[in-house]
Amino acid sequence: MERLKQLVPDQTRATQDVDYHFSNLWFAANQGHWPLAQFYLNETRSHLRWAVRIIPVRKDSAGREVKREDILQALENTPLKQLDAALQQQDRGEFLAAYEATLAGCYACHKAAGKPFLRPRLPERPASSMMAFDPHATWPQ
Ligand code: HEC
Repeated sequence: MERLKQLVPDQTRATQDVDYHFSNLWFAANQGHWPLAQFYLNETRSHLRWAVRIIPVRKDSAGREVKREDILQALENTPLKQLDAALQQQDRGEFLAAYEATLAGCYACHKAAGKPFLRPRLPERPASSMMAFDPHATWPQ
């Protein structure tokens, strides 16, 4: 069991990965780098699933079970689909609305998990310091 714990990345790590990909997504889309934005959206989605799989059900502070799968499903059904559509249409206005709606969904899950102090906001800078977000970058060739 201890060995398994070492192999399976913990929940904190998985949620930090969500933070990383979702903040990079913001900068890729705002600079109109649509393929990179799609990559980061896909990564966000798979890391969210992964985080939920690690601990699928949790009790909130009142002892009620929190079905994290259901909350994630709601997020996937609406704002994440909107984000996909915005990227397909390369529509920045739609992207902004969908990004904000997703953050509200992220926060809904944090509240449901008894962690209302984990309040996300629009990122000030990308988590990656070395990825080129400019779609017209020409180096390296
Ligand atoms: C299914 C529920 C759920 C969803 C959906 C969710 N989170 Fe979380 N998130 C959690 C939980 C639970 C924690 C606390 C993890 C822990 O206790 O280590 C957390 C923690 C975090 C943290 C803190 C990580 C750290 O250690 O610094 C960040 C940042 C975060 N989430 C961002 C997001 C973002 C951004 C989204 C939406 C794209 C999101 N989360 C969606 C449940 C969720």
